Amino acid sequence: MKEHMASGDPVQAGEVPLCVPEIRGNEWNYIRECLDTNWVSSAGSFVDRFESMLAEYVNAKYAVATINGTAALHIALLVAGVEPDDEVLVSTMTFIAPANAIRYAGAWPVFVDAEPQYWQMNPQNVVDFVEQDCSWVAGELRNKTTGRRVKAIVPVHILGHPVDLDPIQAVAEKYNLSVIEDATESLGAKYKGQMVGHLGDIACFSFNGNKLITTGGGGMIVTDNEAWAQRARHLTTQAKDDPIEYIHDEIGYNYRLTNIQAAMGCAQMELVDDYIEAKRSIASAYDEILEGLPGIKSMTQAPWAESVYWLFTVLVDQAEYGMGSRELLGKLKDTGIQSRPLWQPMHLSPAYANLKPADCPVANRLYQDGLSLPCSVGLGESQRLVTDTLNLLGANKK
Ligand SMILES: Cc1ncc(COP(=O)(O)O)c(C=O)c1O
Repeated sequence: MKEHMASGDPVQAGEVPLCVPEIRGNEWNYIRECLDTNWVSSAGSFVDRFESMLAEYVNAKYAVATINGTAALHIALLVAGVEPDDEVLVSTMTFIAPANAIRYAGAWPVFVDAEPQYWQMNPQNVVDFVEQDCSWVAGELRNKTTGRRVKAIVPVHILGHPVDLDPIQAVAEKYNLSVIEDATESLGAKYKGQMVGHLGDIACFSFNGNKLITTGGGGMIVTDNEAWAQRARHLTTQAKDDPIEYIHDEIGYNYRLTNIQAAMGCAQMELVDDYIEAKRSIASAYDEILEGLPGIKSMTQAPWAESVYWLFTVLVDQAEYGMGSRELLGKLKDTGIQSRPLWQPMHLSPAYANLKPADCPVANRLYQDGLSLPCSVGLGESQRLVTDTLNLLGANKK
């Protein structure tokens, strides 16, 4: 069975999956090399090579490979100095991993609504929270209501599009907050000409099965901060201080990527620009065809952004299109086309029901109306089936 983003039942032959990996490069050769040479575990030349390729690609000085993106976020928070009972601002419209990573560090997420145009973390809400709901006490930013220290911001570049980071960076600098980019969904995207992942203090990527490039499961931390990179490497390898005596100077984690996975990552990285080009042409074909379809609004790219359109998503206006996003999901499924709603926003998640309720109307609407459409790099002719079906369903409801 092919890898896919589960939205219910497994994808069957002949169906159009949402987003599957593209494996057509040197994956077999490099993985075979690992097996032939016995370098299968977390030491090996492919891990170093994959790190260098990633660092070079996003223009960062250092990269540290991890077992997945969630582990990368956990470690990035720790090296950025986030401590138990701190607060960390994070997008509410995201997959749950960054919020969970904040809790793994013992800190508390403060959920920030999305902006309505590009659906990313709303920078004005970040500034308002910091300037109005916090105070500067003895060199630290404190939430006036909870009294907790606010230590970092995690902007999540969702769906392949960057967050508008300048206002966030400015307020972070003013109050000495770390900016930890969750760039897991946006490898290759650019903000004002700069690579996502090289905008904040430290950034994280994911290579799980549905991402632009995949290692099956994997992640990466990138930063220009040498001390942070060293600490990240130390923490991801059980904080082993003396390899002979097995002396560990603190409690570390077994988070390092294996050579086999990194081998796959190297092969995938060799084709990353081709994959991005494919994602962009899929997006422009959707844009063109769906433009005239009442009630379907495609994701848009900000003038200051270069999106990689990782997961092509539309908003479905129930009144105008004739059915809502969930009914459409069901109809597409009946036709063998897989689609998926956006994530339940974090401020609504039962996992975070113990936090103070947050008012995030934009994320609520995105959750209600959002639907991601098939957009695998190898989508090809199947895209026509998707757009024809959307047109037909819309016309039939009129
Ligand atoms: C926004 C976001 N952050 C973090 C992750 C976590 O990455 P991983 O699944 O590799 O742990 C993902 C995706 O899986 C994601 O979409």
